[in-house]
Amino acid sequence: MGKLGIIGGSGLTQLPGLAVTHRQVIRTPFGEPSGPLIFGELDGHPIVFLARHGHGHTIPPHLVNYRANIQALHDQGVSHVVSVATVGGIHPDLGPGRLCVPDQIIDYTHGRESTFAEYNGKPVHHEDFTWPYCEAMRQHCLRALRQTGEVCRDGGVYAAVQGPRLETRAEIERLARDGADMVGMTGMPEAYLAREIGLCYAAVAASVNWAAGREGSTTGVSLHGVETTLTRVVERLHAVLASLARMDYASVPPAMPDAGR
Ligand code: HPA
Repeated sequence: MGKLGIIGGSGLTQLPGLAVTHRQVIRTPFGEPSGPLIFGELDGHPIVFLARHGHGHTIPPHLVNYRANIQALHDQGVSHVVSVATVGGIHPDLGPGRLCVPDQIIDYTHGRESTFAEYNGKPVHHEDFTWPYCEAMRQHCLRALRQTGEVCRDGGVYAAVQGPRLETRAEIERLARDGADMVGMTGMPEAYLAREIGLCYAAVAASVNWAAGREGSTTGVSLHGVETTLTRVVERLHAVLASLARMDYASVPPAMPDAGR
């Protein structure tokens, strides 16, 4: 029996429509997740919610315990995960307020605990990560976005950067040359850990600003603008998440990443 997990990013530390049944502090071999897991029903359908940055938004991207978060969701029977991720837009289509379901990642993060595979005397295993998101979950996200009337970009390259600082103009130009369409701070190692543990994981990326030096951010990234856009975009995402909650996860086994291609 599948179950949906929602990892909320910046601006999404709680779900107003969620009828909470209980909260649970989970311990994992990797320590504690960002906060208690919140169990409840969204539009009458069971989901598990976790605020990536903690409920008071106090955990910066480079200090999130990604392993504990993913392990805890897995241990509570979650089979499918949608990550809500705010990004800076690099591609001209991804200005503030635009949504995207990325299909690729470039990882520029460093110093994060990025694998469950620790030395244990077992032979080294290399996981395929050609397609870093679960295609079945990506399709669920795209369907939910369509159902709620959202226009969204299907596919794009997510550049995962270390943060918490924003980038320089030259760094964004380099990311653009590398082929990145958007930049965010939390996509990795989260996506890879989900793959390692067997969760069907995809992200809905919400652009909250032009990346440094692009279009409306030529003189700098306006943090006030980020806040305003974030509030508006998160309101729209509530309906998308409710639509995702209504989908049937029982009949969709965690899919191979290239399923449906
Ligand atoms: N850069 C990195 N991460 C982000 C940005 C950005 O411009 N906006 C939202 N998350």
